[in-house]
Amino acid sequence: MRALGIEGTAWSLSIGVVDESDVLVLESDPYVPKEGGIHPREASQHHAEKIGALLEKVFSKVEPKSIDVVAFSQGPGMGPCLRVVATAARTLALKLGKPLVGVNHCLAHVEVGRWKTEAKEPVTLYVSGGNSQVIARRGSYYRVFGETLDIGIGNALDKLARHMGLKHPGGPKIEKLAKGGKHYYELPYVVKGMDFSFSGLVTAAQRLYDNGVAMEDVAFSFQETAFAMLTEVTERALAYLNLDEVLLVGGVGANSRLQEMLRVMCEDRNAKFYVPPKELTGDNGAMIAYLGLLMYKHGYETPIEESAVRPDFRIEDVVVNWD
Ligand code: ATP
Ligand code: FE2
Repeated sequence: MRALGIEGTAWSLSIGVVDESDVLVLESDPYVPKEGGIHPREASQHHAEKIGALLEKVFSKVEPKSIDVVAFSQGPGMGPCLRVVATAARTLALKLGKPLVGVNHCLAHVEVGRWKTEAKEPVTLYVSGGNSQVIARRGSYYRVFGETLDIGIGNALDKLARHMGLKHPGGPKIEKLAKGGKHYYELPYVVKGMDFSFSGLVTAAQRLYDNGVAMEDVAFSFQETAFAMLTEVTERALAYLNLDEVLLVGGVGANSRLQEMLRVMCEDRNAKFYVPPKELTGDNGAMIAYLGLLMYKHGYETPIEESAVRPDFRIEDVVVNWD
C-alpha cells in the first residue's frame, strides 16, 4: 500500500510518497522569507504557486494510479498555509478516487521517528519553530507532559539570529556560531513545573549582543541555557514515566549540541537515545504520508466535509489505536 502526503503547515511545502517499508519519493520547495520571519500570507501564496509543479515532479517518479491514500497535514499550523494544502489534497483525492486522511502534524513527527528508528515507547522531545513539547504515549493517547509557555525554541533561535543581523532560518547559524563561543554568560533559566519558557531568554540574549558581547558567546550561552532546560524536562519525564527511550524530532533536532546533551543524559540514565535521519527530522511530506498510511490501515478516513483545517489541532485530540 502507498500513501502520498502533503505538508505545508508553515514554511515547508513538501510532498512524500511512502509504502509500508520506506520513503519512495520526497520532494520539497520551501518558502524562504526575503527578510524577517515567516509571513503566513506570503508563505501560503508561495505554497499555492508551487504546489502544482511539485506534484508534477512527484508524479514523474511514481504513477498517480499507484497511490492508495492521500494524506495532508490538517494542523496545527498557519491557517492560510493549511488551507492551500487541504484544498490540494481534497482535489487530488477526488481526482484519483482515493480516500483522504487529515493528520496531526505533531503526531506525524513522532510516528515517523518511531518508524525510522528503533524507538518503541519513547519520551519524545519535539522541538521546532512553532512547537516545543515533551510527549509520551499513555494508552490510546499521546500526552504532552511539558511544553513551552510562550514561543517554540526554533522561533527563539530565529529571533535571536535576526536580532544579530542573520537571515532566516537562524537555528543552523546560531549552532555554527556557538561552536566558536568561549565564555558562558548567565541567562534566565526558566523551567516551571514541567513547562519552560524562552521569550525572556531571547530578550536577555539580545541585550548581551547589544552590550557588545561577541556573537559566538551570545549563541553559545543561549544554546547552553535553552538546551539544558529542554534536557532537564525530558529527563524528568523519563523518570516520572519510568521509560528508557528518548526520541528527538522537529527541525531543531538537527542541532548537534542538543543531541549531545540529550545523549549524555540518556547514557547517565541507561536510556537509549534516537534521532531519525536528517531529512525526516524537520517538516517533510514523508512523515505526513507515513501517518496517513498508518491511520488508514487502522480504519481512519477523513470525509471531505470533515476535512476543514485545524490551526490549533493538539496531539492529544487523536485517538491512537495502533501499536
Ligand atoms: P512546526 O510546524 O512543527 O513548528 P517548523 O515549521 O518550525 O515546524 P521545522 O522544520 O520542524 O519547521 O523546524 C524549523 C526550525 O528548526 C527553525 O526555527 C530553524 O531555525 C530550526 N533549525 C533548523 N536546523 C537547526 C539547527 N541545526 N539548530 C537549531 N535549530 C535549527
Ligand atoms: Fe514540524
